[in-house]
Amino acid sequence: MARRRAALPAGLGQTYEVFAARAEGAEIWDVEGKRYIDFAGGIAVLNTGHRHPKIVEAVKKQLDLYHHTCFQVLAYEPYVELAERLIALTPGDFAKKAYFLSSGAEAVENAVKIARASTQRQAVIAFGGGFHGRTLLGMALTGKVAPYKAGFGPFPAEIYHAEFPNPLHGVSVADALRSVEHLFKYDVEASRVAAIILEPVQGEGGFYVAPPEFAQALRALCDKHGILLIADEVQTGAGRTGTWLACEQWGVAPDLVTMAKSMAGGFPLSAVIGKADIMDKPLPGGLGGTYAGNPLACAAALAVLDVFEEEKLLDRSNTMGQHLTTRLRALAEQHPEIQDVRGLGAMVAIELFKDGDLHQPDPDLTKRVCAEALQRGLVLLSCGLYGNVIRILVPLTASDALLDEGLTLLGEALQAATS
Ligand SMILES: Cc1ncc(COP(=O)(O)O)c(C=O)c1O
Repeated sequence: MARRRAALPAGLGQTYEVFAARAEGAEIWDVEGKRYIDFAGGIAVLNTGHRHPKIVEAVKKQLDLYHHTCFQVLAYEPYVELAERLIALTPGDFAKKAYFLSSGAEAVENAVKIARASTQRQAVIAFGGGFHGRTLLGMALTGKVAPYKAGFGPFPAEIYHAEFPNPLHGVSVADALRSVEHLFKYDVEASRVAAIILEPVQGEGGFYVAPPEFAQALRALCDKHGILLIADEVQTGAGRTGTWLACEQWGVAPDLVTMAKSMAGGFPLSAVIGKADIMDKPLPGGLGGTYAGNPLACAAALAVLDVFEEEKLLDRSNTMGQHLTTRLRALAEQHPEIQDVRGLGAMVAIELFKDGDLHQPDPDLTKRVCAEALQRGLVLLSCGLYGNVIRILVPLTASDALLDEGLTLLGEALQAATS
């Protein structure tokens, strides 16, 4: 840690003072030999677990063939096959195209570029509490100042924020929709808005779920004004919420979808998938990147898709979600500090309040629970606009026994942190 502190900037945060030595499935061992159960999944990247044998094998095989050409210079088959397979999995009764980048923020930037190029409009509406990455445009779209935006401005212009539905904190779906309409009155005419971007479940923001009726109303609003709807599925995608994409549960299709994180099981890959005519609007050369769609990452992503099919991980996501919810509700019975257990599929969280008072989010207790859990060998992640949410992103491949062991440790950590 001393060497890390001396060599690395403070802005590069680190949740725990632990150095990993090796990992397997949903377990990690640190350099001192201590074992941890991984409920963080490298922040939503490991739905298929650490070092899934099928993914390791696919990457090794690819490594023996070639590992970089730059797709825009010399093409390779795994990239095209992956695009075809993702298109087939993306909702919407229309022709689609897909292409690849390296990070979630890059995918978000590219979705906005495409929306602007195809609508010839500039403005973008995002939501309070949303998180879309750490690049300048990603930060501008992100709806949380500290620590993500503080000191980094000025941001790209023409980004506006509306309210995300969050009944627990007093924002109904009707309130949220009204706040979008207010933007059209107060800040920007609808005819200048290129896109509305939202996370189907806010990730960093606190695992708040956008109800299908909210997405449907946004779809109707977008259709009325010629605005494109972008689903940022960087955290929700790749099976976390019980369907491959969370927006499959909306009943309406977005025009553009961004993916990253678990889609390639830990290898850096992101995607933009969308309506073919929209995707074709930027000029040749306007999209891409040197490393974008790296062959090793494409091979890993194809293996992730195979693993999902072979191991029925979407079913697992749902059963795991039910199991997590049941056990966390039981914990909430014993701990009034837990005022909400919520989620979609296996994207599940608890929210903590001082004395159970909804006016007093408790980030300190949240930190204490995470610290107590770490001591006991469980890696947890917090999140939320108020830092008072504990989110569970355990690999979908984890056994029931391991899941229960982790949940028991969480219970013990809560007990220790509240007594
Ligand atoms: C919804 C969402 N969008 C975008 C991003 C940014 O992804 P990356 O960190 O890969 O740039 C994240 C990362 O957490 C995310 O959760």
